[in-house]
Amino acid sequence: MILIDGKKIAAELRKELKEEVSNLKIKYKKVPGLSVILIGDLAPSQIYVKNKEKSAIEVGLKSNIIKYPDTVKEKVILDKIDELNKDETVSGILVQLPLPNHIDKQKVIEMIDPLKDVDGFHPINVGNLSSGYQSMIPCTPLGCYLLIKNIESDLNGKKAVIIGRSNLNGKPMAQLLLKENCTVTITHSKTKDLKAECLAADIVVAAVGIPELVKRDWIKKDAIVIDVGINKTDKGIVGDVAFDEVSKNAKAITPVPGGVGPMTIACLLKNTIECFKRSQVL
Ligand code: GUN
Repeated sequence: MILIDGKKIAAELRKELKEEVSNLKIKYKKVPGLSVILIGDLAPSQIYVKNKEKSAIEVGLKSNIIKYPDTVKEKVILDKIDELNKDETVSGILVQLPLPNHIDKQKVIEMIDPLKDVDGFHPINVGNLSSGYQSMIPCTPLGCYLLIKNIESDLNGKKAVIIGRSNLNGKPMAQLLLKENCTVTITHSKTKDLKAECLAADIVVAAVGIPELVKRDWIKKDAIVIDVGINKTDKGIVGDVAFDEVSKNAKAITPVPGGVGPMTIACLLKNTIECFKRSQVL
């Protein structure tokens, strides 16, 4: 069994990105900038954003966190995004989710310039990704994709089963694996026999938010199992996969924590650099 060490793979990716940033600095006399908008004081969001900033600085990016109380008016956020869209020192814009109920998530996402949309959530990027055109790719599925490719470079004809159909993970994950010529099944809460679907899979990506849902007898021997879940339970943080038992069957598996999480942040930095490079050639 291969334990997919996301921490190590993300550290390697950050090292490459750091080198790239220093080359870009020489070439363009400036560095990519990431602006993050954080609304309210939800603890997980605060932690994510802090980690994002720490990593951004580590690779040499310019990082800027803009904080608002959860009572902030929607217009203030839309105006700020408009300002960041026009700011040449800002390569990438991320609005940390979830948002307070009085702010329309769709309006906020659509306000971000698609060329600065480091999350890949703008409908233009979603459409481009599903059409197989150049697009920004959401960070978590991109991180999962890189981990899978790290284990198996040729995915032609592999059967991939994705658990969860969210815009953040499940749907873009399916697009990335389709591009690699996998046969992709997206499953969800209404799927009739999830165990049977998983048992047929060469690759399982669990991104559903149910603690230890995926069991040992759901997984074919030699399958690759990617666990996107981060669930708080009495016994601490666990994924969507029952790691202890599934790791006895799988060919390769990501731990939680230390699997997908570090890759998500590294991919955010990668996307910020990507936005910067595209803006320089336009
Ligand atoms: N909240 C949890 N995950 C994410 C993410 O990938 N992007 C944003 N913007 N917010 C999140």
